[in-house]
Amino acid sequence: MNLHNVEFIKSAAAAQGLLHDGVPQIVFSGKSNVGKSSVINKLLNRKNIARVSSTPGKTVHINYFLIDSVAYFVDLPGYGYAKVAKTERARWAKLMEIYFSSAGHIALGVMIVDSRHQPTKDDVTMAEWFKATGCRMVVIANKIDKVKNSEKERNLETIRQTLELVEDIKIIPFSAEKGTNKELLIASIDDAVKGWNDVW
Ligand code: GTP
Ligand code: MG
Repeated sequence: MNLHNVEFIKSAAAAQGLLHDGVPQIVFSGKSNVGKSSVINKLLNRKNIARVSSTPGKTVHINYFLIDSVAYFVDLPGYGYAKVAKTERARWAKLMEIYFSSAGHIALGVMIVDSRHQPTKDDVTMAEWFKATGCRMVVIANKIDKVKNSEKERNLETIRQTLELVEDIKIIPFSAEKGTNKELLIASIDDAVKGWNDVW
């Protein structure tokens, strides 16, 4: 899969805008400001194809990028930003419910958490949604460049325990800023797309 061949397809804000066209989806999810857009930009080697915001909670749409005509990267709107209005929060919840209720199109769930902190309650809920779909899943412990070497192992273990991840779910220490372990994430994505194509 050529990650340089990328096309922005659309931004969806409601159920009728969601794509179900049989193309496997790689879904990126995480709380607001954790670095979802930065991870996508890093993978695609683009500075700003997925918008990187300095204002958390800015991405309120589901964004679809078609990669090399074989898979979508799906940038889900972030959750857990305290200052978001109740109506927006409700809209987000509804959109997520719809997205995950017809989740047969998810080839890989990429759940992004902050490697510096224990995952939040919202992170735990998101992990449960992914587990409930039965899709493949990988956890990205982002911003690892900000964690001391001596603390990395312990933080990764805290993430595994808090999200209650079984052994075969990988946690990849990652830096969207530096590109740390980018190739590991790309390998997981390639595997998932291959696995998908073998089944369908
Ligand atoms: P929303 O779309 O608003 O939910 O945010 P997001 O999850 O897409 O986060 P975004 O990519 O916009 O990044 C938020 C901030 O974190 C930006 O200032 C990024 O530069 C910074 N950031 C993202 N990843 C890393 C990383 O690995 N290391 C460091 N040091 N900073 C990062
Ligand atoms: Mg974003």
